[in-house]
Amino acid sequence: MKALVLSGGLGTRLRPFSFSMPKQLIPVANKPVLEHVLGNIRSLGVTEVGIIVGDRGQEISEAIGDGSRSGVRVTYIEQDTPKGLAHTVILAREFLGDDDFVMYLGDNMLPAGVAAIAEEFTTHRPAAQVVVHKVEDPRAFGVAELGPDGEVQRLVEKPQQPRSDLALIGVYFFTPAIHEAVASIEASARGELEITDAIQWLVTHGADVRASEYDGYWKDTGRVEDVLECNRYLLDQLESRVDGTVDATSVLTGAVVVEPGARVVNSRIEGPAIIGPGTVVENSHIGPYTSIGRDCRLHRTHLDDSITLDGASVADVRGLHGSLIGRSASIGPSSRTAVHRLVVGDYTRVEVAA
Ligand code: G1P
Repeated sequence: MKALVLSGGLGTRLRPFSFSMPKQLIPVANKPVLEHVLGNIRSLGVTEVGIIVGDRGQEISEAIGDGSRSGVRVTYIEQDTPKGLAHTVILAREFLGDDDFVMYLGDNMLPAGVAAIAEEFTTHRPAAQVVVHKVEDPRAFGVAELGPDGEVQRLVEKPQQPRSDLALIGVYFFTPAIHEAVASIEASARGELEITDAIQWLVTHGADVRASEYDGYWKDTGRVEDVLECNRYLLDQLESRVDGTVDATSVLTGAVVVEPGARVVNSRIEGPAIIGPGTVVENSHIGPYTSIGRDCRLHRTHLDDSITLDGASVADVRGLHGSLIGRSASIGPSSRTAVHRLVVGDYTRVEVAA
């Protein structure tokens, strides 16, 4: 089996971060979402991975390289314009050959893994097997209607009146039967070739299409709130490890990782929290539920439930909570008293204590 990972898309819900980096590279628990995805694919025993990239392809290939860090071999496949999930299957035709494959949206996190579902697929080999999850409001998703034995009777993309609460959550297993389906469908109202429509085409033409419910934690990391929530979820499974230095006046409580080259000086780190390589934390209180990236500087700061990306610095600001701070961003005291000075990029959000 091969894997097709989708890492195009504009990520407008993750502005301003998506202006300067592909959304799939946003770190959760200090690892890009896409790397979590590749690890998950590797754990299925799949090593041949095609990654569909859009105009951010170069940054993705710089971060992921040939995939060896995740134990996979990556082939990059370019998609000039986002024409839909089914369109990526057409683009990847040569890479996929006549192999079965798992299609995986590169910004979806399923930390419990889909190994049992993959095994079900390889055992029974239906034409397609979709992964579904019960959601409160299915209107934002593809929705599956199932028969008594888990067979898919109907799939509808983003229905206004959903007939079930089972959403498609971005992981699909396919036999080569999908190739005829993607070639046969028309673009949807949003101008995209929908994978949901291609799978429905299989159903209509009498193919065996199954659904399996994933009941573990799932998150589409499309918005800042989702990224922070997912960070909290992954940090809850963190195991303590101190490879950097922690001085005698600092206190670590709970699960804390201090990466190599990081220094914690006269500070309190309340786990779960990760302090990235080369980062310096001084006279600060960090955590819980905080991931600090590489080479950050935190001085006289109190920060919790947050993520700072590489090279960020925060000084003399207390009470930072639920924050996502971008690469090399700098937050600190103004040189004049009693004024706030903001140099804030497009679509940035600043919330201050009233
Ligand atoms: C896509 C699929 C949809 C699926 C969703 C999962 O939607 O079209 O069926 O439920 O991913 O995240 P999109 O994110 O393109 O709106």
